[in-house]
Parts: sequence; structure tokens; C-alpha cells
Amino acid sequence: MFTPLVALLAILPAFVNAQSPVWGQCGGQGWTGATTCASGSVCTVSNPYYSQCLPSTGNGGGGGGGGGTTTSSTVSQPGQPTSTSSSPTTSSTPAAGNPFAGHNIYLTPFYAAEVAAAAANISDATTKAKALSVAKIPTFTWFDTVSKVPDLGTYLADASAQGKSSGTPMIVQIVVYDLPDRDCAALASNGEFSIANNGQANYFNYIDQLVAQIKKFPDVRVIAVIEPDSLANLVTNLNVQKCSNAQTTYLACVTYALQQLNKLGNVYSYLDAGHAGWLGWPANLTPAAQLFASLFKSAGSPNMVRGLATNVANYNALSASSPDPITQGNSNYDEIHYINALAPALQSSGFPAHFIVDQGRSGVQNIRQQWGDWCNVKGSGFGTRPTTNTGSSLIDSIVWVKPGGECDGTSNSSSPRYDSHCGLSDADQPAPEAGTWFQEFFVTLVTKANPPL
Ligand SMILES: *[C@@H]1O[C@H](CO)[C@@H](O)[C@H](O)[C@H]1NC(C)=O
Ligand SMILES: *[C@@H]1O[C@H](CO)[C@@H](O)[C@H](O)[C@H]1NC(C)=O
Repeated sequence: MFTPLVALLAILPAFVNAQSPVWGQCGGQGWTGATTCASGSVCTVSNPYYSQCLPSTGNGGGGGGGGGTTTSSTVSQPGQPTSTSSSPTTSSTPAAGNPFAGHNIYLTPFYAAEVAAAAANISDATTKAKALSVAKIPTFTWFDTVSKVPDLGTYLADASAQGKSSGTPMIVQIVVYDLPDRDCAALASNGEFSIANNGQANYFNYIDQLVAQIKKFPDVRVIAVIEPDSLANLVTNLNVQKCSNAQTTYLACVTYALQQLNKLGNVYSYLDAGHAGWLGWPANLTPAAQLFASLFKSAGSPNMVRGLATNVANYNALSASSPDPITQGNSNYDEIHYINALAPALQSSGFPAHFIVDQGRSGVQNIRQQWGDWCNVKGSGFGTRPTTNTGSSLIDSIVWVKPGGECDGTSNSSSPRYDSHCGLSDADQPAPEAGTWFQEFFVTLVTKANPPL
């Protein structure tokens, strides 16, 4: 990819000094940057924490995150032509503007069907009604095998039609999760590809298939979480042989994913960044920031990479009223402390990332025996609903990445995918295989939801 550097240099200073670019932030609590917008756009309040320069014409004439460039359009109004660029621009900073603003989020029929089936099995009328309401809360769809990729085309077509009929463009939320030798430090989520058996080529093909589906629907915005746990494992688990063996392949595969998705122009990517109890330990912050920043830069600073996703499938609070006793010793005892500590290190390493934070199963705190316990934690409740009203200008949105009710891992110690975390006394049992429905756990999430459903 080549950067039209001269053009960028000519354009950027004018924006930086005086105005926010189209799609850029222009206000909100704690915002100290420009409050006026580039010509052709109007500063529009999204929520108390975020105002954005939206095109005044309603036509997607502005750059979709190209740091003030105007060559690629990532937002289209339904019924109007989408201008797509054949050569996306590279900039030195992540995509500008909160990609969640001004869009509705697609509800995947797969999760809705799981929830409906689960609710049908609940006899208590109040609990059943609460359970059914979960089907209206957007989660991410995990593309954890190649065979699921065609479903993405179905969802995008559906979302495109919904956007056209409602007049509000749609977001489809996906998790890219099929690395060879996946989940190198644990066992429960091992994937279909192995490095020893053509894994990297198989992964590139998996990405190519995702790209082929997304390419057909440039009017739908895709938010992608990239490869949960993979880079965090490279920060802290290189002492595990499977992780050190996987290091080069993970980096090549994630780089390929970022670059190929970036070319589409309508995919905003967030790299998975573990959680407060993992990379949030003070000794891990700088190595983590350096890894994320060096990956971002060596991938060519892809302009649609918006930042990092934290707490994916985990149980931490965004903002805990008091530290959970298990976090003792870590000043970054919740996700907001972790993010606030990591952001400056990223910034100084050249990757001024924004964040999304999974709160899907974080409604109940102080229920784990160790901070590292991640498997079907007993007594969990659904957490804060997805919202761009996050209380932090660093956080684009609270999201539900892990679909609540889908199992973290089996408690059957004879299963090849058994991980001992799923047999701990704070893990709900008996638990089925990872990814399959765990009815008892779902019912607990519903009854213990905080705020209540
Ligand atoms: C509903 O309950 C029945 C009987 O316990 C069970 O066989 C079935 O698998 C359950 N379905 C779901 C979706 O949990
Ligand atoms: C546990 O896993 C083993 C090996 O896969 C299987 O044979 C057995 O039926 C499983 N037990 C239960 C209770 O699912």
C-alpha cells in the first residue's frame, strides 16, 4: 500500500489546527480538540460524551476514517450510491470518528433462535419474558470455522435490506477467530487449523472468504474484533511452547487479516487486548503497547483499524465500585483503569487506539476465586447493555462480544478439549463443549442481570 503522503501533509495541518474532519470528533465531555467541522459537515451530538462531524448533505462524501482524507467512503445513506475506493488510503493514525455513531446494530438470527429455544424451556413466566428480551440485544457473531463464513453473507444481505427500509445504515458485528494453533495457552477453544498442517495458508483463505462476503455489501458497516487472546498470549505466554511456536504465524496471520479487511473500506477493526487481569498488570502494559503498536505500524498503519477490544468473553467490570478482592495488588482492577493506563503507552508507541469493552457477562462482580478464572463463572449475570454512552472518550462503545449462554468450555474431564479451569469450583457444571448452548448458565445470566432485564 502506498500513502499519498504529499496530499496528506497538505491536508492534515488545516484540520488539526482549526477543524475536525468529516466523521471526526468535535465535542463531548472531556473533549479538548476542535469543536468546528470541516466544510460540508456539521457537528452533531451523539451523546453527552461524543459529538461527531457528520456530512451536512447526508451523502457519503467524506472519508470514512482516513484521517481527513477523502478518497474512500465507508458510510452510505440507504438509497444513495456508495462511492468505494479501489485504493484505500493509509494514514498514520487509526480511523477517526466513533464507528458506532449514527448506525443501528444488526441482531443475528442465530443467537435470536438460540435465545428463543432457551426461553421456550423456561417455565417461570417472568424469567421467560426476561430471557426473550435478550434476543433484542446485539451480540457479535464468532466466525470460528470456515464453514460458518457463508452465514456472514446472509446476515449482511439482511442488514443491507433493513438499513434501506429504515433509512438508518446498519452495523454487523463479527469476531474473526480461526488462527492456526488457536488458543495456544489453553485447551477449551482449540481451532480447526494447525500450523504444522498448512495452517497459515488455510487462514489466509479463511480471511479471503470473509472479504469476499463483505465486498458484496459496501453499504453495511462491519465491526470486527480480531482474534481474541492471540496477541495477549504473545505478550505473556511465550514460555508455553505452543505459543512460542505460533508467534511468527500469529503475527503474519493477524497482519494479513488487518490488511485485507482494511482494503474493503467498510470494516472497522479492533484487535483483542485481553483484559485488566491479564495485560493490565503494570509490568505487562508497556510490552503490550509495544506489540500492538509495532503490529499496527508494520501492517502499514491500516486506516480502518480503530483500536482495541478488551474483556472479550471475560467477566470484569468496566468500572467497579470497589476492587474485587481477587484483583488485589493491581491498581488496574477494572477495565477503565486498564484502558486509562494502556492508552498513553499506545499513544507514545504510535498507536493512538480507541476501545470497545465487552460487558455481556459482567453484571455480577466478586464471584471468582482467582482473577484468571474464565470458564462459565458460576453466578454471572448479564451486564451493561451495549451503548456508546460509555463515560470515556477513549471508549467507542460498550459491547456484548460473547453471546451469553454459549459455553466457554466443557467440564467433562475426559473430553480432548477439557481445560482444568472449567472444572474449578467457581465454574458452573456440568458444562457442555465450548460454543454450544449452556441452558443452566443462561438462566443464571438472565436472573442475575445487572441492570435487571
Ligand atoms: C429443553 O428441555 C428438554 C428437557 O429437559 C431438553 O431435552 C431440551 O434439550 C431442552 N432444550 C433446550 C434448548 O435447552
Ligand atoms: C465425556 O467425554 C468423553 C470423551 O469424549 C465421552 O465419551 C463421554 O460420553 C463424555 N461424558 C459426558 C457426561 O458427556
